[in-house]
Amino acid sequence: MKKFAIFLAVLTLSAPARSQTAADRQKADALLKQMTLDEKIGQMTQVSLGVVGTEQDGVLNPQALKKAIQDYKVGSILNVTNHALTAGQWRGLIKEMQDEARQTRLKIPIIYGLDGIHGQTYTLDATLFPQNIGMAATREPELAAAAARVTALELRASGVRWNFAPVLECGRQPLWSRFAETYGEDVYICKTMGVASIRAYQADGLRSPTAVAACMKHYLAYSASRTGKDRTPIYLPDNEMREYYLPQFRAAVQAGAATLMVNSADINGTPVHASKYLLTDVLRKELGFEGVVVSDWEDIIRLHTRHFVAATPRQAVVLAVNAGVDMSMVPSDFSFFDLLKEAVQKGEVSVSRIDEAVRRILILKLRLGLFENPYAEDAAAANFGKPEYQALALRAAREAMTLLKNDHEALPLSRNAKILVAGPAAQSISALNGCWSYTWQGKEEQWYPRDSRTILQAVSDKLGAGHVVTSTGPGFDNPLNYDTARLRAAAAGVDAIVLCLGENAYAESPGVIPDLALADNQVILAKVAVSTGKPVILVLSEGRPRLISGIAPEASAILMAYWSGKKSAEAISDVLFGDYNPDGVLPFSYPRSMGEMVLYDRKPTEDIREIFNSDVTMDGYRPLYPFGWGLSYTHFEYGDLQLGSGKLQGNEKLTVTITVKNTGSRDGKHTVELYSHQLYASTTPNMQRLRAFKKISLKAGEQQTVSFTIDKNDLAFVNAESKTVTEPGEFELMIGNRKGHFTYVQ
Ligand code: BGC
Repeated sequence: MKKFAIFLAVLTLSAPARSQTAADRQKADALLKQMTLDEKIGQMTQVSLGVVGTEQDGVLNPQALKKAIQDYKVGSILNVTNHALTAGQWRGLIKEMQDEARQTRLKIPIIYGLDGIHGQTYTLDATLFPQNIGMAATREPELAAAAARVTALELRASGVRWNFAPVLECGRQPLWSRFAETYGEDVYICKTMGVASIRAYQADGLRSPTAVAACMKHYLAYSASRTGKDRTPIYLPDNEMREYYLPQFRAAVQAGAATLMVNSADINGTPVHASKYLLTDVLRKELGFEGVVVSDWEDIIRLHTRHFVAATPRQAVVLAVNAGVDMSMVPSDFSFFDLLKEAVQKGEVSVSRIDEAVRRILILKLRLGLFENPYAEDAAAANFGKPEYQALALRAAREAMTLLKNDHEALPLSRNAKILVAGPAAQSISALNGCWSYTWQGKEEQWYPRDSRTILQAVSDKLGAGHVVTSTGPGFDNPLNYDTARLRAAAAGVDAIVLCLGENAYAESPGVIPDLALADNQVILAKVAVSTGKPVILVLSEGRPRLISGIAPEASAILMAYWSGKKSAEAISDVLFGDYNPDGVLPFSYPRSMGEMVLYDRKPTEDIREIFNSDVTMDGYRPLYPFGWGLSYTHFEYGDLQLGSGKLQGNEKLTVTITVKNTGSRDGKHTVELYSHQLYASTTPNMQRLRAFKKISLKAGEQQTVSFTIDKNDLAFVNAESKTVTEPGEFELMIGNRKGHFTYVQ
């Protein structure tokens, strides 16, 4: 525990990432002057490992490598062929590539990029943490930062200095198959957690052997697809875009994020890869971003093949590069190189635009110290797989656990109880980790660390095998898991059933579903479990909220476990048996049904239900569990909410204070959340907006006073003219069931 305190303190104190230096800019310019057009276009070309590899994972094809680096002069390589490699294999691969690059005329190093989404995805035995959705449930930005720091260390130890993370877009469409990669539905949480992660990835400056370049993605609003299907259209008015999807990118730019990846979809009919407005006017001119913009996978050519806004492949390249894309994740061939060269020769893309893009790429490589030493540094390699990372993963998984229901204190279960562990997630590792776990889809369990535990194992570890029975077999899809007769028989002599439901791992398009409803065979299992008369404890391992309204009322307790990484099973078992008092809170509204998908920061008319004339109720926001919901084994009570003043004027600050008391008999942690509500405004005001949060620890019987300081910027919204304004008027502030009022005057 002590070790942690130090680990976190270092992070908190570390300086914000340094941005470009004048020296790096001068070096980049000097280099640029010596470069041929081919050399420049090569720098803008990124190919996948498959292009330079062989059938065998981790083994390069020397001819293909030569072709890519010598003939096409590619500047960047990404991804794995199929699955994670050892840190040593990565270091070897990077060495081969950099050796090849050193044979080129200008010896410009390769920048390698990987997706370290919840830990370093693609290095075997790297530490996996909760997905962002679980991290958001912890409401601990320092914890997100500590996990990001370990991700950076394990990436750099693998010789890789560019991480395609974090995902910054809000998860306001729970159907979306990448919901787990988001920090949930609230923009303030996305911003706070995202910035904490970016600072941690880049802590101590990119040259440091402990840092990687962050890549904020996917600019912009990729998560907001109307259908919920991956990479499908977004319809977003400018003011909504600026309210919920842009602030986190603005904050990330200010925090020094080195690179950015573009949203694959189209907004209001314009694919973002072709949007000069978003990629140049907003990103460069308004937000002041100076770093590298990389396309997403194959997305430039898709302007022609999928979006049909470019009549030819060359036009696709012209549109994207002129809109502001600096590097193309081509990634499976060299078409981008040939097409861009042709376009420059025809005068369709200017050399100055090429120079601008290449300068940014060279500066990034300089900042990362790749010119001095492109290989994995010894100091970096030593940072792989330290024991304290496992302890951090356990802490993060525990703090993510969100107790949604606990009727008659069904939990914690007695350690002397006899337990049936059932359901498809009982003996699945992949269903506890989700996407980007040693493979892209995360489903292949042979690549997970050997000491990964299933829920069944973790419960047996705790209680002793004699206290635990199961009706399941290994793997999520094992037919035994759905055999209701086996479940019923196994339940005969037990005191309670821990029913592990949810979703097996998936990523991106393979995770598209037609319905949020939990799979029928799982609902049937739950009904059978309830029919045994034994208390049923539902454990949900899932990347998005699958509908459970039909079974929730009969469950004695429900634990939302998300996909919480390496230590999920241990954390679940610790909560079930009371070794950890749960303190996670929902970062989204858990929907009741497909017709009840209202978000917590709803508009007033979404609150209203009008049956007939005067028969009006105000229960329009009726999720199964609201945003911010999460139970504890102890009780917390609030005192009155105190405001420093009843009036906030101009640039003054307002202090908001509340006393929180742990009135139960157990120590616990609690998140205090401050919400605001403006009563009247020029556009319909939100019913609630989260403005600040703080997680505190209270011993049984202890109380603590928590203070927040807000100013007019915390009360702002984007008006009909797309301007961020704070309008004078009456405001309410809310913490739990406590309220305060004040007036803002300009
Ligand atoms: C995803 C990105 C990812 C990239 C590289 C794409 O399919 O949308 O998030 O960074 O692949 O793996």
